Amino acid sequence: MAKFDYYSVVQCKNSGNIIEVLCPGKDADVSQLNVIEAKTSGEGEPKHKPIITRVDDGYNVKVGEVEHPMDEDHYIAVIELIADGQIHKQYLKPGDKPEATFKIPEADDVVAREFCTIHGLWQS
Ligand SMILES: [Fe+2]
Repeated sequence: MAKFDYYSVVQCKNSGNIIEVLCPGKDADVSQLNVIEAKTSGEGEPKHKPIITRVDDGYNVKVGEVEHPMDEDHYIAVIELIADGQIHKQYLKPGDKPEATFKIPEADDVVAREFCTIHGLWQS
């Protein structure tokens, strides 16, 4: 049986909707949902794996060492930075640049995630 954690990303098997779990339920019926596991390597990595750079007053996250397309039907919908357990998000739309800067203090543990509308969830 699927198990949700805080901020799990799941997909409805019927509608295809992508959903983020804000707070996992104790006995939720998850039979119609698939947990989407974040990819960290493999096919598509050069255009999808987030790259984190420390900048003067925060962190910059770029999607891919090769810039990801931001077309109407294929784009990065959201970039997240998880810094010492705090989640920061930047939602994007077609035509935007596939990167985000988060103005936050330096953290010990920093991870980035992004969601591509075609190629799914990726994590640094
Ligand atoms: Fe993609």
